[in-house]
This record gives sequence, C-alpha cells and structure tokens, in this order.
Amino acid sequence: MNTQVELFDNKVENDISIEPKDWMPDAYRKTLIRQIGQHGHSEVVGMLPEGNWITRAPTLKRKAVLLAKVQDEAGHGLYLYSAAETLGADRDDMMEKLIAGRMKYSSIFNYPTLTWADIAAIGWLVDGAAIVNQVALCRTSYGPYARAMVRICKEESFHQRQGFEAMMVLANGTPEQKAMAQDAVDRFWWPALMMFGPNDDNSPNSAASMAWKIKLFSNDELRQKFVNNTVPQVLQLGLTIPDKDLTFNEETGNYEFGEINWDEFFAVIAGKGPCNHERIEARRKAWEDGKWVRDSAAVYAQKQQVNAQK
Ligand code: ACO
Repeated sequence: MNTQVELFDNKVENDISIEPKDWMPDAYRKTLIRQIGQHGHSEVVGMLPEGNWITRAPTLKRKAVLLAKVQDEAGHGLYLYSAAETLGADRDDMMEKLIAGRMKYSSIFNYPTLTWADIAAIGWLVDGAAIVNQVALCRTSYGPYARAMVRICKEESFHQRQGFEAMMVLANGTPEQKAMAQDAVDRFWWPALMMFGPNDDNSPNSAASMAWKIKLFSNDELRQKFVNNTVPQVLQLGLTIPDKDLTFNEETGNYEFGEINWDEFFAVIAGKGPCNHERIEARRKAWEDGKWVRDSAAVYAQKQQVNAQK
C-alpha cells in the first residue's frame, strides 16, 4: 500500500497533475497559494498603469483595444484567485494581505507610465516576458493553475502582438514618436528582465518549486529565453537596447547581457519603487469602495439559498 507521500511523489514524477482533492504536502500547498496569489495580484495591480491611459489613448481604436486588454487582465486575476481558492485560500484574506504589504505583486507594475509609448512597451515587453514565464506554467504540476494558464497565455499572446504593433507604428513615425518609443524601451528594458526574479543562486523558493514541478524552468533560464526572443524584435524596430554589454554568443546562440541592478529590484519588491505607494492606495480605495457590492452580493446569495430551500 502506497503512502500519501508516495502517491503524490509518483504523480509529480510522472507528470500527472495534482488536483484540489488530492493529498499534498502542506509546504506545496503554501508555496502554490503564495505564487498563485501573487500572480493574481500582479494581474489586478497590472491594470493600474494601463488604466491610466484609457482616457488618453491616441485613437478610438487604441482606446477600445486598451479597454479590452485591461478587462482581460481583470479576468486573469479572477481565474488565479479562483485557482488559489481551490487550495483553501480565502480571497478576502489575500486582498487584505496585499493591501497590508504582506503579499507581493510583480515588481514591474511599480514603474510609471509616462507616455503612450509606455503602453505599447507594456503590451510588448511586459506581456512578452509574462508569456515566457506563463507558457512554462501551462505544464505546472497543480491542475487548476496549469489550466488557468492555458487561457491566460492565449490572451497574453494577443496583448503582446498588439503592443508590438503599437510600438512599430511609433518606431516608424515622426522623429518625436520614434524618440518616445526609444525612451519607453530605455525605461522598461531592465525592469522587464527583473520580472523573472532574482538570479538562480539567490532564489530561495526555486529548489523546492522545481522539485515539485511548480516551476519547470529556472528564473535565469526563462530570462535568457526572453532576451533571446526580444533582442531581434528591438533591432527589427530600429531601436536600441540600453545595455552596452549586450553581445551575441555564436557558440551558445544566446544574447549575453549586462548585470541587472539587483539593489533596485530588491528595493522595489520591498515597497520602495517609484509607484508602490500609489498602487497599494489605489487597491485599498477599490477594496473599500467595493464593500457595498460585496455585502449586497452576500445578502443576495443568502436569499437565493433560503428560497431554494423553501
Ligand atoms: N516581483 C515581485 N516579487 C518577486 C519577483 C518580481 N518580479 N520575482 C521574485 N519575487 C519575489 C518572490 O515572490 C519571492 O518572495 P516571497 O518568498 O516573499 O514570495 C522572492 O522574490 C524570491 O524569489 P524566488 O525565490 O525566485 O521566488 P519564486 O520561486 O516564486 O519565483 C517568480 C518568482 C518567477 C516570479 C514565480 O513566482 C512565478 O513564476 N510566478 C508566476 C508568474 C507571475 O507572478 N507573473 C506576474 C507578472 S506577469 C503579469 O501579471 C502580466
């Protein structure tokens, strides 16, 4: 007779997904709640820098596309919160932890969107980086997380293409538009690389997450993949990458890049980035303003239950 631990280990080893009712080690559950919860928060906080430009999009078409993209991100947040709930997490608790600074969200969303080109850069670079990470997560060991990722990746892939297209228009536009596109690349390039997390030798959660197949590739492997995918795109746009150390290694086929400013990364995830305060305040306000909606929905659900029992 196999023990619960053996059954779990066998499933992970044989790439059979772990489902909500299966036995799982407490630490596996805890790590997933942490990662999925933070991932959900990133989607929701990620609506803020882009939402900032909905009223200022340059054309009606761009406005409609941006509005749809921001709504997609809300949907991603909801799938992810639902996936975390299948592990026993409580959505209100996750929200309260986010607002209290006890749960993280992606570092990238603590940078401001100063121009329209930043919106193009977010679609192209930020969603592009997110896809590299999320495509790998489509095969993660926890079933509900993996399945949420499949749909999310399809939508992110559309976001990435629309971002590239918006960037292409700017890069081929007037000298001022091209300069705006370059400025956005200059400001978002390094923060996009930081999205993949600390280097592998400084990533405390990686060993366990890789053994459990929550993570299938390391932070550095995914970062390298993103750089390899994206450098040719930057060159195609006729723009430059703000990294004087960037070189192509013929032997490995990799673009080797300079040192990431890890002091900046750790300051941002510790709450000291340019927009951390503003982002959390916006979430706090939305949470407080939405209380009457949550309360009404709860009363309605209760009434429905009573009616169903009559
Ligand atoms: N922003 C904020 N925090 C980060 C980031 C980042 N870019 N990268 C790492 N961290 C945090 C980790 O959450 C961890 O903190 P914690 O232990 O308090 O949770 C700490 O830094 C150390 O990092 P790791 O040990 O490498 O953490 P982990 O194994 O969780 O790997 C990673 C980090 C790669 C981000 C992983 O959690 C992951 O793949 N998450 C799912 C993808 C995701 O969240 N994407 C969000 C952005 S994309 C988007 O929403 C559009």
